[in-house]
Amino acid sequence: MKKWYLVMAGALFFAACGGGENKTETKQSSQESAAADNSMVSPNAGKPASKGETLMAESDCKTCHKEEMKVVGPSLKDIAGKYPNTPENIDKLAQKVIKGGSGNWGDVAMLPHPNISQEDAKEMVSYILSLSGK
Ligand code: HEC
Repeated sequence: MKKWYLVMAGALFFAACGGGENKTETKQSSQESAAADNSMVSPNAGKPASKGETLMAESDCKTCHKEEMKVVGPSLKDIAGKYPNTPENIDKLAQKVIKGGSGNWGDVAMLPHPNISQEDAKEMVSYILSLSGK
């Protein structure tokens, strides 16, 4: 029992000593990392998206509209199939995008997008109507 106690005391003493001796002040040279090279190549480079497609990607459209498949709203191809690609339809549908719409495809209404300009809405709609393949 006594021997065990001595070993413990010795260990403590040793640890205390070792701890105190290591207090050398090391001044770390702060290395400001050189400006990181952020030149990333866009994965879509070489595949130019139309302006309307880009605008739609930046807005919330894709939450409810997919190109091929009905989600909440009709698929873009269905819309393109329903409306001929004419300036009148582009105008009319652009208004729908901005003001919201309902009743043409079912009971679900499209939310209005008051922040989208008429011009941008028309870009989006002409992209959608261009998908009909006609
Ligand atoms: C909250 C879900 C939702 C979002 C977000 C949404 N839509 Fe819709 N969209 C719908 C629904 C639902 C309909 C069908 C409305 C109807 O029955 O008239 C629709 C219909 C449409 C139509 C056809 C309108 C008609 O009268 O036939 C176009 C064009 C359209 N959306 C474009 C867009 C564009 C562009 C955006 C993005 C700016 C967008 N939508 C965002 C749900 C959405």
